[in-house]
Amino acid sequence: MNKKVYIKTVGCQMNVLDSEMVVADLKRHGYTVVETPREADCVLYNTCSVREHAEEKVYSALGKLKQAKKQNPDKIIGIMGCMAQKDQEIIFKRAPYVDLIVGPGQLHTIPGLLEKVQTGEGRQMAVSLSRKGGSQLTIARSHETFDPLRDPAMRPTPFQAYLRIQIGCDKFCTYCVVPNTRGPEQGRAPDQILSEATILADQGCKEITLLGQTVNSYKHIDGDTTTDMASLLEQLHDVSGIERIKFVTNYPKDMTERLLTTIRDLPKVSPYLHVPAQSGSDAVLKRMKRGYTIADYMEMFERIETILPHATVSSDFIVGFCGETEEDFQKSVKLIERCRFKNSFIFQYSVRPGTKASERLEDDIPREVKARRNNELLAMQDKVAKEDNLKLVGETVRVLVEGPSKKSLRDGDDDSPVVQMIGRTHRDRIVAFDGNRRQAGQFLDIQIDDASCHTLVGRVKTVDVVTIGGV
Ligand code: SAH
Ligand code: SF4
Ligand code: F3S
Repeated sequence: MNKKVYIKTVGCQMNVLDSEMVVADLKRHGYTVVETPREADCVLYNTCSVREHAEEKVYSALGKLKQAKKQNPDKIIGIMGCMAQKDQEIIFKRAPYVDLIVGPGQLHTIPGLLEKVQTGEGRQMAVSLSRKGGSQLTIARSHETFDPLRDPAMRPTPFQAYLRIQIGCDKFCTYCVVPNTRGPEQGRAPDQILSEATILADQGCKEITLLGQTVNSYKHIDGDTTTDMASLLEQLHDVSGIERIKFVTNYPKDMTERLLTTIRDLPKVSPYLHVPAQSGSDAVLKRMKRGYTIADYMEMFERIETILPHATVSSDFIVGFCGETEEDFQKSVKLIERCRFKNSFIFQYSVRPGTKASERLEDDIPREVKARRNNELLAMQDKVAKEDNLKLVGETVRVLVEGPSKKSLRDGDDDSPVVQMIGRTHRDRIVAFDGNRRQAGQFLDIQIDDASCHTLVGRVKTVDVVTIGGV
């Protein structure tokens, strides 16, 4: 029987990758992917718990499915991902018509569980052990993933792919739900990572982005051999076909000199580092339990500037964390001004049940103040990014072309031979230019004519035609 699945993904790159694997698995079990929940036999939401807003969006989408389920009780509704792990039965209570709840560590059980629902065994739940639910090893095992199953058709582009090198997180920042939803930090075995990179290269993938919550803390121990991030990058650099290697997200404390010199010496590795600071204030960082001071962060930043002088650095910030004074907040503004990040993702603090901050600290910054600080910080970020991007006008940059821009897709100029295309530089800058769809997946040189805070705008540099054999 041909069964139809609809899958909606929210959250971080980990979830995008998880959805790709689940789809690959379901296709092997006879499913096809459809574009709307209406036409699907099975509707899956891959969810995120990092902020309350992300969860509320899923609950409101679920509310809309209630009627559809009434009309067609055979339609299976499943919640997978971090919210499934965090809320477990609470989801059944809030939405009793949900059939399936599967945490990020149990995604490989989805085809079997769907079959159980279909054959009348009732609703199903598979989640990992909690962080206090057993021995270290059994907890870790219950959070393992099944990455080798890949489906290029599910990726935004076939020539770019995510590759997970690390599962979970042990940093326990006081605001963060991730160590609970994704379990203990575990580095995947380097031979698994290398063989997956080779498979991706064989599928035509040119750029891989290595994923981990604190990717630069990567470590794998096998007998006497310890592999760290620097040696993993050296090994991946040898995979032919892979031309660019990026990695997110980095933890400031683990940005070692050895890692930075390795990045400098390996041309395929992008000189682009996403190293979230979260706040510019030592008092706030302490309450966040981030494990560094601003002096430490600046020392790391200066190490990057010395070893990789032209690297781009980007950051995340939380505004309105418990007890953040106006003075604390202004230190975040100052940090952006000093570090001139390429971009920063800015979030308003959202209390997460089960975290230390939710138990011990008061969420005392009013909503309006969080919103105002968010805008103010963003204004500083946009200012420095625009100034730095404008410095590139007149320069030529090499991009990997990703595809038509959102704007050209919106305008619907499907038949036009010339469309606005988007590419990204080695340093992760976004470049828009007039081109054509066939350029997707190619490396092109673009001359920059203009810039905004998010995008460089340019034109393809005409290539000198080399004639061979007099033709
Ligand atoms: N592992 C990564 C980030 C994971 S979550 C790291 O350590 O940097 C992505 C971002 O969401 C975080 O960097 C943080 O800025 C934000 N975030 C996490 N928990 C949050 C919360 N409770 N409220 C608001 N933002 C949060
Ligand atoms: Fe969350 Fe901190 Fe781990 Fe990042 S390092 S996932 S913010 S606990
Ligand atoms: Fe969200 Fe889970 Fe990623 S909480 S940010 S989907 S690891």
